[in-house]
Amino acid sequence: MNHSSSDRLAASLRSWIASAPAGARLPSTRELVATHRVSAATVRAALARLSAEGLVITRPGAGTFAARSRPAGAADFSWQTTALGPAPFEVPGLSAAFAPAAPGELNLAEAYPEPGLLPLEAVRSALQRVARTPALGERAPVAGVEGLRAWVASDLASRTPAGVASAAAKDVLVLPGSQSGLGAIFRAVVGRSQPMLIESPTYWGARLAAAQAGVVLVPVPSGPHGPDPEEVERAFERSGARAFYAQPTFANPHGATWDATARRDILALARRLGAFIIEDEWAADFSMDAVPAPLAAADPDGAVIGLRSLTKSVSPALRVAAVTARGPVHARILAEVQAQSLYVSPVLQHAALDVVTSPRWAAHRRALPARLRERRDLLATALATHAPQLRLGLLPRGGLNLWLGLPEQLSEATVTLACARAGVQVFPGARAFPAEAPAGFLRLNFAGTPAERLEEAARLVGHGLAEAERHDVARLG
Ligand SMILES: Cc1ncc(COP(=O)(O)O)c(C=O)c1O
Repeated sequence: MNHSSSDRLAASLRSWIASAPAGARLPSTRELVATHRVSAATVRAALARLSAEGLVITRPGAGTFAARSRPAGAADFSWQTTALGPAPFEVPGLSAAFAPAAPGELNLAEAYPEPGLLPLEAVRSALQRVARTPALGERAPVAGVEGLRAWVASDLASRTPAGVASAAAKDVLVLPGSQSGLGAIFRAVVGRSQPMLIESPTYWGARLAAAQAGVVLVPVPSGPHGPDPEEVERAFERSGARAFYAQPTFANPHGATWDATARRDILALARRLGAFIIEDEWAADFSMDAVPAPLAAADPDGAVIGLRSLTKSVSPALRVAAVTARGPVHARILAEVQAQSLYVSPVLQHAALDVVTSPRWAAHRRALPARLRERRDLLATALATHAPQLRLGLLPRGGLNLWLGLPEQLSEATVTLACARAGVQVFPGARAFPAEAPAGFLRLNFAGTPAERLEEAARLVGHGLAEAERHDVARLG
C-alpha cells in the first residue's frame, strides 16, 4: 500500500464528508477502489484514519457513515460554564508547578530525586516478593497495613528521646502521598473559610491544598532559623487560627531548620493557645548532617500532627506516606481519608514496608547523606562559576534544594522563561510565597539531575540569566 495514495483518498473523503449530511453512507470499498483507482488496502487505511479522527463510523455489514457534521476537536463545552459556576479558587502559577520537563531538557525544578539516588533494586525485589503474596488480590484497612503503621511509629520513636510518650501504630494513618495528607488534614482540622498559619516561603503544594480546602492562609515569615516565635504569637492571636502548617526541619524551599528556641517556644505557644502544629517531615530521609528531633518528639498531648512521606525517598512510583495524629483528631482525619480514597493499595504498602525493613535500605540510607552533599556542593560550586549573579543565602544541611536570590533588576518570570529557552527548567520562587514575594528567587533541585549533568545545568542557568539581563535591561532602558 502506498501512503501518499491513502493520504490523498483520506483528504478527498474529508471534503466529501464536510459537505454530506451527518449519517450519510460513504461509497462502498468496491466503489472507492473503482473511482479512485486504488487498492482495497489503501481504502481500508484511509477509512481507519478517518475513523481515528472521529469523522466516520463503520458498522460491520452495513457500511461506513459520516459520524457528525461538525469536525472532531470542535466540541462546544461552553454549557459547562453555567453548570460549574465561578471557579472556586485560583492560585496563579501553581498549575505549572508540576509540569514535566520537555524531552532532552534539564530539570532543576524537579521535586523528586533522580532514579540514581533511589533504592530501586530494593524496590524491584520488594514488588516481586509482594506479587507472590495474597496482597495482590486484597484490599487494605482504611488506616493502613498494620506492619507499615508500626514501622512509621517505630521510626518516630527512634528519633524521640527516651521518656517522652511517642506515637503508637494505632496513631498512624497511611495515605497515597503526603499531598493527599495535607488536603485531608486541612479539611479535617482547619475547615473552609477558617484561618491557618503557614510559613513564608513554604511548599507550593501546601498552598494549593489549602486553596482547594478553602482555608484562609495567614503567612508568617520564616528565615534560616525558622519563624520568630513572637511573630507566630501575634499571628495566632490576630487571626484566631488554631493550626500552623510548618516544616521545622530542612524546609522546602529554602532548607531552613528551626533553631532550638523556635522549636521550644512555638510548641509551647501552640499548647498554651490550644492549637495544632502540622509538622511536614518531607525531608526526614534527606539529611546531610545531624538532624534535630521532630517537634512531635517533645509533644506529650497530641498538639503535633506529623506527616512523613516515603514517596520521595523510596520511589515516586510507590506513593505511600503517613500521618501521625494522637487523640480525637485522628478519627477526624481518618474520616476524611476514607471519604477521599478508602484505602491505599496494599501492594504498595507491603512493598514500601519490605523496602524500609530491608538491609539494602539501611545501606542506602547510610550512603545517602554523602551522595546528597556531593550533589549539593557540585551544583552550588557550578552556579558560583556560571551564574555568579545568584545569591545562595544558606547552604542547606538537608532536603533537595538550593534557594537562590536573584539580582534586584531581574524579573523572576523573565529568568524562568529565558532558562527554559536555554534548555533548563527552574522553579520560580514566587510560587512558594503565600503573599507577595519580598524579592525574586529560584529554587534549584540538586538531586533531581544526574551528578554528571549538574555542571551543564548550571551553565544553562548562566545562559538564561545573561539572556534575561539583556531582555530586562533593554526593557528598563
Ligand atoms: C514539603 C513537602 N510536603 C509534601 C510534599 C508531597 O509529597 P508526596 O510526594 O508524599 O505527596 C512535597 C513534595 O514536593 C513537599 O516538598
